[in-house]
Amino acid sequence: MNTYKIAVLPGDGIGPDVIAQAIKVLKAVEKKYELKFEFNEGLIGAVAIDKTGNPLPDETIALCQASDAVLLGAVGHPRFDNDPNAKVRPEQGLLKIRKTLGLYANIRPVSAFPLLFNQSPLKNHLLEGVDLVVYRELTGGIYFGEKGRNQDGTVAFDNCSYSVEEIQRIAKLAFESARNRKKKLTLVDKANVLETSRLWRDTVKKMEPSYPDVTVDYMFVDNAAMKLIQWPAYFDVIVTENMFGDILTDEASVLTGSIGLLPSASVGSGVALFEPIHGSYPQAAGKNIANPYATILAAAMMLDYLNIYEAGIAIKNAVDKALAEGKVTIDINPDKYISTTEAGDYIASIV
Ligand code: IPM
Ligand code: MG
Repeated sequence: MNTYKIAVLPGDGIGPDVIAQAIKVLKAVEKKYELKFEFNEGLIGAVAIDKTGNPLPDETIALCQASDAVLLGAVGHPRFDNDPNAKVRPEQGLLKIRKTLGLYANIRPVSAFPLLFNQSPLKNHLLEGVDLVVYRELTGGIYFGEKGRNQDGTVAFDNCSYSVEEIQRIAKLAFESARNRKKKLTLVDKANVLETSRLWRDTVKKMEPSYPDVTVDYMFVDNAAMKLIQWPAYFDVIVTENMFGDILTDEASVLTGSIGLLPSASVGSGVALFEPIHGSYPQAAGKNIANPYATILAAAMMLDYLNIYEAGIAIKNAVDKALAEGKVTIDINPDKYISTTEAGDYIASIV
């Protein structure tokens, strides 16, 4: 039997709450599908700062590099958000793990689940057929450019730069995904203003002939933000740079009714990382109210990536079933809800 080594980084806030449910579910599929997982925990984020002074200790990097996949909870703590002068921040740990592991593509699937249409602020008819996936560039752009202040601190800058190679490698994944889906790719950029966006457009245009079966369109990010609300079913695969992808995926999560349902995969040349797209939601930490489904679905994406398809599908089906039966946490139904641990127990029992 193959043993899969999983690095588990619970992180901050509700991270440990939701990760515990994903592990519970993985242990249930382990038994049922005769798999063997070895879970090893590492520190990241505010908890890592508290224990070691470093948001991403070297041991955590080594642990991830020695694993088959990484499962991450969430990173962030308000005590840093309100301190613009903080020298170390939990988010640095997340950015550094992405960069160090070379996770250049962040894949965020978004589909609207019919039984939750009423949770969404959009009218029901707009949600029919919504099934899109965002390929967000994750290790370049303004997130990683040179940043700083002038001498007296009254002027600040953040550089945004992209190379052809950085654009090509994620565009290739997005084209390939489109090919296996509805064969439509939308590049979201701001090519009417930004030079980096013009390079994105040139590069993707040059790749088009290699994918004759995929229809490509080009859309400015402001227009894309509007269209995601006005006509979300328009989209199939979106490919975009780091910050536009960050913003648009939070927006897109509203379509599903809860950000607590969206998983993501970050992939690159080596080990891949799986996490919910939501943040650490510190107000809910330890209260047994967080929605664990995004993290459980991230675990399902991890199994797909490890080529353990049957168990991955079983987890996705189990979450669908739970949603259909109204077995949801308070973010989805404040009138009738179950706790985080009950949600995890239920999925583990039917998976
Ligand atoms: C995300 C988050 C992170 C990001 C933060 C926590 C640094 O918002 O994964 O989308 O901006 O990438
Ligand atoms: Mg974000």
